[in-house]
Amino acid sequence: MSNPPNSVPNRLILRQPDDWHVHVRDGAVLESVLAYTTRQFARAIIMPNLAQPITTVALAAAYRERIQAAIPEGSAFKPLMTCYLTDEMAPDEVERGFASGLFAACKLYPAGATTNSSHGVTDIAKIYPVLETMQRIGMPLLVHGEVTDTAIDIFDREAVFIDRILSKLIADFPALKLVFEHITTAEAVDFVTDSGQQIAATITPHHLDCNRNAMFQGGMRPDFYCLPILKRETHRTALRKAATSGSAKFFLGTDSAPHTRDKKETACGCAGIFNAPYALESYAKTFDEDGALDKLEAFASENGPKFYGLELNKARVVLERKPFSVPSLLGDGALQLAPFHAGNRLAWRFMGLEKP
Ligand code: NCD
Ligand code: ZN
Repeated sequence: MSNPPNSVPNRLILRQPDDWHVHVRDGAVLESVLAYTTRQFARAIIMPNLAQPITTVALAAAYRERIQAAIPEGSAFKPLMTCYLTDEMAPDEVERGFASGLFAACKLYPAGATTNSSHGVTDIAKIYPVLETMQRIGMPLLVHGEVTDTAIDIFDREAVFIDRILSKLIADFPALKLVFEHITTAEAVDFVTDSGQQIAATITPHHLDCNRNAMFQGGMRPDFYCLPILKRETHRTALRKAATSGSAKFFLGTDSAPHTRDKKETACGCAGIFNAPYALESYAKTFDEDGALDKLEAFASENGPKFYGLELNKARVVLERKPFSVPSLLGDGALQLAPFHAGNRLAWRFMGLEKP
């Protein structure tokens, strides 16, 4: 599956990766965070959960323009837009957006599952006509896989989603391409592994690096609160095994989800970890710790485009083993954000694109 590593012990050269799940937000936050993603990744699947969700071709086209306007000069970065599914979504709108090349996929948020998901789907049966169309045209469905039933323990919501929703969904749409987003449990790893080739999953840097203890290390740590919530160590181990296995079903999706300090450090803080600034450094840490640096390129740069049916990137990026300290905060004033690994040392450093 993976090519032999094009690396020497202290230097890694990888085909440039893509981020298959990222929140770049809008307005001033978009302008302050986008460059972190465009610096490392050639393309990214842009999440549509803005305050006004991206539910139409027109909204997606306008959002793409705002993103394009914020891309730093000289960058060849390409945003891949997604359509936020609602109960009322018209199959024609989805088909039109996919046929024109604007929509790369549709995103299913169960209503109430996470940030800005109140317009999400209340009952999967309501979007069956849309799913019929997506299956027919080969358009991927990206799934936030958690039940919203408050009677279910928050740590069990992904596993229960598999049993209650996902198993039936893939049985009813056996040819639908589906990405189980930001998986966090051993149950999700097994489900994806045991399903057909049309089912894949993204894995975040934080779910590979942290277990749920991180939220309570020495006190309440809001910067480690995200959804799906961090799980216990056995699950983290299962995720690491999947990511480093070389299986083509698992690929990189950071789920970088910036929230400003006032939204994190408050009585009811937002879920989300801002990992875009040191995303590749973080993945390299995991793969290095597990003796699997030779599997990083497939996970980061090959499995995703192959699943989406897109070309592999031609540019290469360089990582060097040059330990450095991650700043505790990035940005100024009201736009200050705490990056993942804030205040810690990381061994691998992203050096930019390989010079021709
Ligand atoms: C995301 C966000 O803030 O938009 N938060 C998160 O914790 N991952 C939403 C999401 O992907 O669930
Ligand atoms: Zn997300």
